[in-house]
Amino acid sequence: MSKDSNNAIKKEDIQTETMLRPDCWDDYIGQEKVKSNLKIMLEAAKKRGEFPDHLLFYGPQGLGKTTLATLISKELGANLRVTSGVNLEKSGDLVAVLANLEKGDVLFIDEAHRLNRMIEEILYPAMEARKLYITVGKGPAARMLTLDLPPFTLVAATTRLNLLSSPFRSRFGAIFNIDYYGLDEIEKIISRSAQILGLKLSDDAIGILARASRFTPRNANRLLKRVRDFAEVKNLEVINAGICNHTMESLEIDNLGLEKYDRKLLEIIIKKYDGGPVGLNTLAAVLGEDRGIIEEVYEPFLIKTGLLQKSSSGRIATADAYEHLNLELKS
Ligand code: ADE
Repeated sequence: MSKDSNNAIKKEDIQTETMLRPDCWDDYIGQEKVKSNLKIMLEAAKKRGEFPDHLLFYGPQGLGKTTLATLISKELGANLRVTSGVNLEKSGDLVAVLANLEKGDVLFIDEAHRLNRMIEEILYPAMEARKLYITVGKGPAARMLTLDLPPFTLVAATTRLNLLSSPFRSRFGAIFNIDYYGLDEIEKIISRSAQILGLKLSDDAIGILARASRFTPRNANRLLKRVRDFAEVKNLEVINAGICNHTMESLEIDNLGLEKYDRKLLEIIIKKYDGGPVGLNTLAAVLGEDRGIIEEVYEPFLIKTGLLQKSSSGRIATADAYEHLNLELKS
């Protein structure tokens, strides 16, 4: 595929993702506990005429952390400033963001575990005392400037809570775990998205997509769009189970939502290492994949489905993994 057409597909995906993103609390399905706690925090802050505490969301990818930040800013009638730990490499990057904040802004920092210690240390006084300390010049001529920041709420999101330093974590007023959705919630999300996209789906089609979605709205919506493509080409008016199964087969997604790489990871542990334990570095080398990607993308879902276990000596494929892959467990 050419780079241009690949970019066009990405652009289309981003556009639909924005269309499908809920823009009020009532449209946001699931994460009920988080939603109700957030609503109380926001309402109380509004009643007191204050600005809410800084918030931290953690959990696997694609579960709606950015959407929550958007809803928080809407609820507060505030501007949302969006950045990511990946884009805040040098202290000047963060200084530029902080120095441009306006009163009441919500600053969303995605992938907060990618912030380096130097950046975290600029954030501490900004979060705590709304002070920005800037060093100007170098060597003996260096001077420290202090800038007062307007009140703002930092909303940070991470897939790797354990990589955040404890002084950083302790500066958030509330820390929320965003966990996988329930099957019924994913089904509701698919129905809502189908309605927005003007698609008709049979109930069993919704069930198939939901089970293949890894309990993740982003995946559910992506699968819905792929099925829409197949149905379009086949001139189907109603998306049925047949076309869903056909699409999943073409995409090599199995009935648990595992993709080729997930199966390969389990197969390596089983076939090469007798089921494990295998160290993460070894696994990364054999798979030819970055260890961070294995930890962030593959493992959380394999652990959630009970196919993989982590122990102090490495990763272990469970009996369910053998069964799922139709492999025999050696006794
Ligand atoms: N699309 C993505 N996440 C969603 C959610 N939690 N509720 C409704 N639609 C969504």
